[in-house]
Amino acid sequence: ETVKVEATLKADKAGPVINRNIYGQFVEHLGRGVYEGIWVGKDSPIPNTRGIRNDVVAALKHIKVPVVRWPGGCFADDYHWRDGVGPERKPTINSNWNRQIEPNSFGTHEFMDFLSQIDAQPFVSVNVGSGSVKDAQSWMQYMTAEPTTPPGAERARNGQQTPWSVPYVGIGNETWGCGGQMRADDYAYEFRKYAAYVKSSSGKRPFLIAVGPDTDDYAWTETLMKEAAWWRPAATPMMYNIDRPIMDGLSLHFYTLPSNTWQNKGVATQFGEDQWISTMKRALFMDELITKNSAIMDKYDPQKKVALIVDEWGTWYDGGPGGLYQENTLRDALVAAVTLNIFHDHAERVKMANIAQMINVLQAMILTDKDKMILTPTYHVFEMYKVHQDATRIPVNYTAPVYRYGEAEVPMISVSASRDKAGKIHVSVANLDPNRAIALDLILTGVKAKTVTGRTLTAPATDSHNTFTAPNTVTPKPATGVKLKGDTLTANLPAKSVSVFELQ
Ligand code: AHR
Repeated sequence: ETVKVEATLKADKAGPVINRNIYGQFVEHLGRGVYEGIWVGKDSPIPNTRGIRNDVVAALKHIKVPVVRWPGGCFADDYHWRDGVGPERKPTINSNWNRQIEPNSFGTHEFMDFLSQIDAQPFVSVNVGSGSVKDAQSWMQYMTAEPTTPPGAERARNGQQTPWSVPYVGIGNETWGCGGQMRADDYAYEFRKYAAYVKSSSGKRPFLIAVGPDTDDYAWTETLMKEAAWWRPAATPMMYNIDRPIMDGLSLHFYTLPSNTWQNKGVATQFGEDQWISTMKRALFMDELITKNSAIMDKYDPQKKVALIVDEWGTWYDGGPGGLYQENTLRDALVAAVTLNIFHDHAERVKMANIAQMINVLQAMILTDKDKMILTPTYHVFEMYKVHQDATRIPVNYTAPVYRYGEAEVPMISVSASRDKAGKIHVSVANLDPNRAIALDLILTGVKAKTVTGRTLTAPATDSHNTFTAPNTVTPKPATGVKLKGDTLTANLPAKSVSVFELQ
């Protein structure tokens, strides 16, 4: 069965720029996310550059990762940066994640080296839960000071002469939970204090990201915006730019659990259509979360100076062999596509997002098995969608038909479009229905397109996935049935698929 959908692209109406950081990643010392996933050590038989595996670097460069959040997650509030610098590393216990031994062989220098290899920016989360303002301040100085100063000289002795730039800093992680079990007003107080001292050694304040709500805890957002977004009125204008908020970003954490309960989240593969649709429904909840949080932020920040930073998102399933490793199927690709389209819709407020997590953990881009590496369906969505990075959003009007299963229903289609700096228009479309194709008529207004090309990601089953023996089961293919008929782009969107079209 094929359902007809008509949509209109309004190319003469430009929206905001889709910040490339929406395509950010998150990596934590958890399971095999860092060790094996990134770091194999200089003496490993796995091909590496200064201990960082080459296959992973090449794959990540290809999707243009703009920014990486590190070292956690819950691990961030358990992390003492000095354990991970210098010739003698101090092994510790990772108290959040299976009490794994943390060798600290991957520390600040290795993280920065990794970022320079993939050409991404750092987003460092400092320790609030078990750390101190002084630790955070000295870490910032260590990273950013000139080598002529004591902290910079120490860094230089450890191998890095030039100061690093640290543009994004998170003040703790989930301080309402693993990061210190704080109440909102306790954390608002901590945030202000840290914000006064966490700066680069030149005095420049990085983009400071406060811990925001867990899912729909709107009261947390309200308190943080009220108590911690702005400088106190008494702040000396000479010392602070009081037009710039004290908080540049407020984070939001939201995970897609098929069943919406932590006790019994749902499985990663071999699920029924009930879990397919419930996963889609939960993923689409991101729109409501952003809308409601933005409305609260608008009250205290009508000029939208404080960004909403969705610095943990993605699917989370039951089981797996530990370390939050999970299979990644075509369903995850759909979750990624609809979520990224939602971020585009909210580009005025959402300026960064970091999918959890980059390698071997939760909704990963990459899975490794010792020397082997595979790219997941989610990776392919990030690769297809990279054309939207820093492009200008263009509105698309459409009424989505409904896809139903049992009592549940969701819109069948999700569409987003943007124009890049070279003038090319890209349209990303997800068909959420696992049974019915869509015959799309996209009427183009405000633009005369000459050619259209496209790629589609789909697979035979809802849980089709790539494995180490069959790594190319779910990969993008040239789109079929896409053409320009006058001012209309017509395309066939297979059931359960993600497509990206390019118009020139
Ligand atoms: O991503 C896994 C964990 O989920 C993170 O450590 C924590 O911040 C969140 O609860």
